[in-house]
Amino acid sequence: MFTSLLFLLAYSAEPFLQVPYLQLGPARADATRLSLMWHTENSPASFSVYTRTSGATKWTAQPKITWRRIAVREIEPHLVYTAELTGLKPGAEFDYEVRRENQPVFTARGLARKTAAQRYQFAVFGDCGQNNTPQRQIAKQVQQRQPDFIQVTGDIVYSRGRISEYREKFYPIYNSEALPLLRARPIIGVVGNHDTAATDLGKYPDTLAYYYYWHQPLNGPETPERKFEGSPADLQAVQSGAGEKLNRMGSFSFTYGNSYWIAVDSNTYLDWSTPQLSAWLEKELKASQAYTWRFVTMHHPAFNSSVAHFKEQHPRWMTNLFEKYRVDLVLAGHVHNYQRTYPLQFAVSSDAPKKGVVDGKFAFDKEFDGVTKTKAKLPIYLVTGAGGAGLYDKDQGGEPGTWQSFTHKFVSNVNSFSWFEIEGKKLSFRQIDVQGREVDCFTLTK
Ligand SMILES: [Fe+2]
Repeated sequence: MFTSLLFLLAYSAEPFLQVPYLQLGPARADATRLSLMWHTENSPASFSVYTRTSGATKWTAQPKITWRRIAVREIEPHLVYTAELTGLKPGAEFDYEVRRENQPVFTARGLARKTAAQRYQFAVFGDCGQNNTPQRQIAKQVQQRQPDFIQVTGDIVYSRGRISEYREKFYPIYNSEALPLLRARPIIGVVGNHDTAATDLGKYPDTLAYYYYWHQPLNGPETPERKFEGSPADLQAVQSGAGEKLNRMGSFSFTYGNSYWIAVDSNTYLDWSTPQLSAWLEKELKASQAYTWRFVTMHHPAFNSSVAHFKEQHPRWMTNLFEKYRVDLVLAGHVHNYQRTYPLQFAVSSDAPKKGVVDGKFAFDKEFDGVTKTKAKLPIYLVTGAGGAGLYDKDQGGEPGTWQSFTHKFVSNVNSFSWFEIEGKKLSFRQIDVQGREVDCFTLTK
């Protein structure tokens, strides 16, 4: 009895609903900045955050701390705090301490964004949040390799991007005491269909948590207001919790080391062939020319050989720009397996529809083999949607006769993630499964 009372007292003193986790924050290209977020119950407290370069003695106060109250039906109102971390030493580890009423309540060691001259490594996977064994195995494999950052190519939690799902299928997997990944390294999230699919706020009032819990540059195009069903009060609760992010955070750009990243919201409420959106994409691709590596990341793949989702080909309307501006890799998820195309060129047919099956003409660079011939002349398209959720078309990877002409590698019998190591003009890629086995690899050089 006494022990359990002590436990209760200790528990009630715990100030966090979710302990701190690192985010990219609002800065596109400033390697001295990141953000830190955490969630608490619904009673504002005086928090402060201090950072210091690891090994240094002097702490620096990080004064810019804000919070928003998330008060949607079916969830206890709670507070989401965001601290802007500035003055970090690029490429260096830093310690941080979160204090509540001036008492230290959390400490961890993070890593600032690397400089263009540094080597860096990172993990990418999509379609992950199921709270199942494969998701946990991949989290463990990623943690063991010590990435500098992590990226999710959408469908972050199943199946409706709800607060309740983040609490069961995201934070306990990636930011627990046993696997303290997200407090130490920033994770970047691209929005998938399951993150935004629940438009009925009457039925799922706690959906759209992506816009509450992530903090990324708001430098994308203003997207048209989406239609949600539900009462005015439900909509008001979402708008009040998400603020500006609701119509701005789906697409954004950022830099890391010597790479330029463009994250695209590929959900079908947007049409990327329209002048407004393609102008933004082209502006970003122009800006990317100053960087050694150029990556585009989005949830829906342009090129997919799976029977699953085969008829969703709308991202093909963007690929002419990827070729024109020499994008190196286009990363996607949505399809729960791993696929790699040949470096390819694609010209949309004049009568192709905006959505559905988008036919056109292909050309492939088959000289590139990723081993001895490592300079690709055209973009390579990856599907890396095997991050935890149930696999699609498990047999198809072993049946090359069923693959489309553009597919070079296809692994669908095991969950896996993508692992990148970049040093200057050399990129080493490996696809790694739940047991740490390599299921694909290639090298790209400039
Ligand atoms: Fe999806």
